[in-house]
Amino acid sequence: MPETIIAGNWKMNTTLDEAQALVRAMKPGLEEIKGLRKVVCPPFVSLSAVSSLLKGSTIEVGAQNMHSEKSGAFTGEVSSAMLSGLCKYVILGHSERRHIFGEADDLVGRKVRAAMSAGLSPILCVGEQLAEREQGRAEAVVERQLRAGLDGITTPRGLIVAYEPVWAIGTGKAATPQDAQQMMSHIRRVLATLQGQAVAANTSLLYGGSVNADNVAAFVREPDVNGALVGGASLKADVFVQLARNAATART
Ligand code: PGA
Repeated sequence: MPETIIAGNWKMNTTLDEAQALVRAMKPGLEEIKGLRKVVCPPFVSLSAVSSLLKGSTIEVGAQNMHSEKSGAFTGEVSSAMLSGLCKYVILGHSERRHIFGEADDLVGRKVRAAMSAGLSPILCVGEQLAEREQGRAEAVVERQLRAGLDGITTPRGLIVAYEPVWAIGTGKAATPQDAQQMMSHIRRVLATLQGQAVAANTSLLYGGSVNADNVAAFVREPDVNGALVGGASLKADVFVQLARNAATART
């Protein structure tokens, strides 16, 4: 059975002080929630401080991106080797990386391979844009992103897939739980073809895009939705704790 995961993607928000204050504020509430994995993904510069604050707790830490090479002349970049002592997860191929920073499918694939070989658990993001959905190409786009993202991988250790339709991110217009479920079962079919039935059945699939404390339960009640990748609603401690609590209740 895939584990249920609620992950907060703080994006380019919070200074070091704010990140520490946010994690201190959410820690007691999150600690009480059982039965799911709780992950926070602060900006790079706060990873070390947030990891220290969460040492020994049940709350885990992730990064939001990384470079595909281990080291070298890549000014401004951060490698898997730098992250592996600091956090367990790394978000890769987020639609903002793909569409604002021009990350192509094959680059995302190289990053996924680098993360896995460094022992990091990649949260591979896939999702179609509005025009692609309107043209009936949503499943084809997601399949293409998955194939490229998992290219060359034989043992997808720690893989998590997040389906985030681009039109639902930060817009307040979430997909319906039924649409999310339909895409998740497509993703499981594609995973079965690429990586075999066992991987498909055991990989956690997260929905992302305008998830909040009120709608999270309906998503995680769908059989193939194993949690959520949360942007805006992960930036307020009480909201994120309530969201995680509602997800945990819905799964039991
Ligand atoms: P949102 O962002 O929850 O603010 O829509 C989700 C994401 O981009 O991961």
